Amino acid sequence: MKFNNSPIGIFDSGLGGLTVFKEIRKILPFEDLIYFGDTARVPYGNKSKETIIKYSSEILGFLTDKGIKIAIVACNTSSSWALDYLRKISPVPVFGVIEPGAQKAVEVSLNISGRKIIAVIGTSATVKSGAYSKTIKEKAALLYGVKKSEKVNISNTDFNGFNENLEIIEKSCPLFVPLVEEGFLNEEITKNVIKYYLASVIKEKPACLVLGCTHYPILKDFIEKEIGDDTEIIDSGVETARSVKNYLEEFGMLKSGTESGNEIFFVSDDSERFKELGGKFLGRPIDNVYVVNFS
Ligand code: DGL
Repeated sequence: MKFNNSPIGIFDSGLGGLTVFKEIRKILPFEDLIYFGDTARVPYGNKSKETIIKYSSEILGFLTDKGIKIAIVACNTSSSWALDYLRKISPVPVFGVIEPGAQKAVEVSLNISGRKIIAVIGTSATVKSGAYSKTIKEKAALLYGVKKSEKVNISNTDFNGFNENLEIIEKSCPLFVPLVEEGFLNEEITKNVIKYYLASVIKEKPACLVLGCTHYPILKDFIEKEIGDDTEIIDSGVETARSVKNYLEEFGMLKSGTESGNEIFFVSDDSERFKELGGKFLGRPIDNVYVVNFS
């Protein structure tokens, strides 16, 4: 059996990617993990494509210099705008968080007859990119047997009525990230903001709601209460962790042995704040956090 003992690199614009980190750690306990949170430059969600690509490329370079075996872009905004570019320049495989979440959304809605509504919430930049709508349609096409190499106009193809009945609602919720970054997790104001943003989505009775931002799983309990039991909540972090595990198994890239994996964290600003809030998100103390400056 083949193994690969190099670490996995995970990065986000800030703290939110820890939700993906947590899921990876849960199902890959022996892997060494390196996390980078760009805390000096968060948020990415209101920045231009060029800036997001520049920041993401710098972080990818930093992580590949550390000898990672794969990189996980644990940020929906960066996955929306920079993933194609990062894949082109990267010496190691790069995973985003959009494809696994989109795949799950298609699977959930496949079993529904009639009108299928998939709702996606994310940052303004993610919604503006249309990456979820595009990827959901691509995943549906693959499920209906269209090969990746075929040049099919996915939007104009019906796939046994799937497309005709499919409606994708993408909604930006720009206040969620600052609320999470400020640690406003149990405050009334957070509940009210969730109510405000989700009102128009709830009216549509979606089959599922994709949490298209890595900060949002931190608000999952509130979101779940608001949206009700009939809508399945899809956490891209959970789906990404699953697909990374499958990939490492398939390509003989798991770490050998059964010793708990090492963890190291890098941030671009204020390691104390990251330790404090990040520790809350992970539900355990974070120790070895180092500050890196790109300028
Ligand atoms: N982590 C980002 C995402 O998943 C949200 C925070 C930001 O705007 O940078 O989209």
